[in-house]
Amino acid sequence: MLSTTFTQRFGLDHPIIQAGMGNDCGAELAAAVSNAGALGTIGSIGRTPDNLHDEIRRCRELTDRPFAVNVVTWKWAPFAQVLLDVAIEERVPSVTISFGDPIPALKACQQARIPAVVQVQDVAGLRAAIEARPDAIAVQGNEAGGHTGSRGTLSFAAQALDLAGDIPVLIAGGIADGRGLAAVLAMGGAGAIMGTRFKATNEFGLAAPHSAAQKQAIVGSDGSNTLWDEIFDEAYGMEWPNGIEGRALRSKFTEEWKGRSEELRQAVDAAGKPFGFVAQLAQSPETVVNWAGESSGLVRDVLPAAEVVERTARQAEELLQAAARTILGVRA
Ligand SMILES: Cc1cc2nc3c(=O)[nH]c(=O)nc-3n(C[C@H](O)[C@H](O)[C@H](O)COP(=O)(O)O)c2cc1C
Repeated sequence: MLSTTFTQRFGLDHPIIQAGMGNDCGAELAAAVSNAGALGTIGSIGRTPDNLHDEIRRCRELTDRPFAVNVVTWKWAPFAQVLLDVAIEERVPSVTISFGDPIPALKACQQARIPAVVQVQDVAGLRAAIEARPDAIAVQGNEAGGHTGSRGTLSFAAQALDLAGDIPVLIAGGIADGRGLAAVLAMGGAGAIMGTRFKATNEFGLAAPHSAAQKQAIVGSDGSNTLWDEIFDEAYGMEWPNGIEGRALRSKFTEEWKGRSEELRQAVDAAGKPFGFVAQLAQSPETVVNWAGESSGLVRDVLPAAEVVERTARQAEELLQAAARTILGVRA
């Protein structure tokens, strides 16, 4: 059993956190992960407040274990403040907060006494988060799928461990199996966040039109065909905070539009803002934005989410036991 300050504080069996991944990541996925002893998360970006209420209630029907709701606090995120209010009103077991200025959202959670994790992408954000004392800090590296900053996971995580004091540090970006989790724990991290790996599970995107094709594209990736670029947000007609860009699999869309920002902006305007252009992309699995990180190269099959949790925890435990034997062997 891998016990850390995070698993103890959040009532988990395993130091594994399934990332919030927009509105394709709902109660079924979160409950499957939580029932397996890790922390499942309902994504909220793209949901209406009513839909989030429903999803939280459904999650409670499916599990009595702790779960989280993710809230993106970047100013354009539709309903961001209202979605946080919904999570607080529902008294969810925990909230994860990312992007923009997370501190007001953190303070609201603290006032409501709901445990909160703040995800950061740079040292300035890390320092601000530490000062506001969340229940855990999530350090996200550039290898990650979805939106992320420019820092590589390993060195950024080590800096966070130097600075965070007694606040548990979770590590995200490029982790998809027990080897990544073992590395996180060996360096002093309190848990690993996995997004891309959990996207390729049976429970992700149950209602999303191309999710089966997206998962197969992740399985088929060797990790080298992702792109971290502003082109994705340009397609959505949205600006993200400085230094944050999206990482997704390369596609017919990226082939056609990469490096043609001006023309892309005109096409997005012509299609009708905010979502006209991405609605066109979403019509085909060859152009739809498939958010995924470099850890796609480690994903070989679409699995039930519980099996991802079990395999990851078991492999990390075996590796850490082997590492301990190595140290004892050297000393003997
Ligand atoms: C499909 C997908 C959607 C994501 N959506 C969100 C989101 O809605 N909110 C958020 O805070 N992070 C989001 N992320 C980033 C994750 O929180 C996490 O940092 C990342 O997945 C970790 O890296 P990995 O993909 O290598 O596991 C998303 C990631 C993926 C792969």
